[in-house]
Amino acid sequence: MKNKNIAIDGPAGAGKSTIAKSIAKKLQIVYVDTGAMYRAVALYFIRQNIDTESREEIQKACDSLEITIDYKNGEQQVILNNENVTNLLRKEEVGNMASAVAKHYEVRKKMVELQQNLAKIRTVIMDGRDIGTVVLPDAGLKIYLTASSRERAKRRWNELSLKGIPCNIDEIEQDIKARDKQDMNREISPLCQAEDAVLVDSSQMSIEEVIDRIIALYLERLERG
Ligand code: CDP
Ligand code: CDP
Repeated sequence: MKNKNIAIDGPAGAGKSTIAKSIAKKLQIVYVDTGAMYRAVALYFIRQNIDTESREEIQKACDSLEITIDYKNGEQQVILNNENVTNLLRKEEVGNMASAVAKHYEVRKKMVELQQNLAKIRTVIMDGRDIGTVVLPDAGLKIYLTASSRERAKRRWNELSLKGIPCNIDEIEQDIKARDKQDMNREISPLCQAEDAVLVDSSQMSIEEVIDRIIALYLERLERG
């Protein structure tokens, strides 16, 4: 396998980040969470009250925002204009805005460049929506990780309930479906399975089963050379 990078794409709540983080530790490679980068752009748009439908405002925003990636104790940190915003990115509001800003060419161009540069200097496992199709088209292993929208909503509901946040599973599923629709139907780099990606449906699989399956595929490819 010439290129040792792993690309994981799939819809929200499929388990990409949980699984990619764990595989990175086991294989001693670097985990790159590209969703967090789009979320940081979204945070900037929210703070500056930028109109996501105005080309002029989007271009101006892209020119004035700087995102850099750092690692602290092995965890990815996202720096937005010199401020570490890593802990401000997980809110639902930021995720929805991320999906709205991510459809724009100016934003994607900037993020893809940053992501490709990260992969130039290290072996990575990178997750997102366009990693196998656009960012790392030569990745040695590409996975399209998915699960039913009901199962993904259940997972989000579990996460929020554990934190004591009241929520409704039907509303979460509606939100997930709306984000899927937006990500799969946008003009530029829509979420889709790369031709050479392996499909893994985790609806009936535990986290450990998914991790074992992906590592087995990776080792098999490494052995094949
Ligand atoms: O964690 P979750 O799956 O909910 O979302 P995320 O990976 O943090 O990504 C947030 C949003 O950023 C997604 O809904 C996509 O619209 C966008 N995104 C993208 O367009 N391309 C990527 N490579 C990663 C994220
Ligand atoms: O990154 P992405 O949005 O694809 O998903 P995630 O944030 O990694 O996973 C969403 C939730 O689903 C987490 O709480 C995981 O622990 C859970 N999960 C699961 O229960 N079973 C799986 N096979 C994969 C993830």
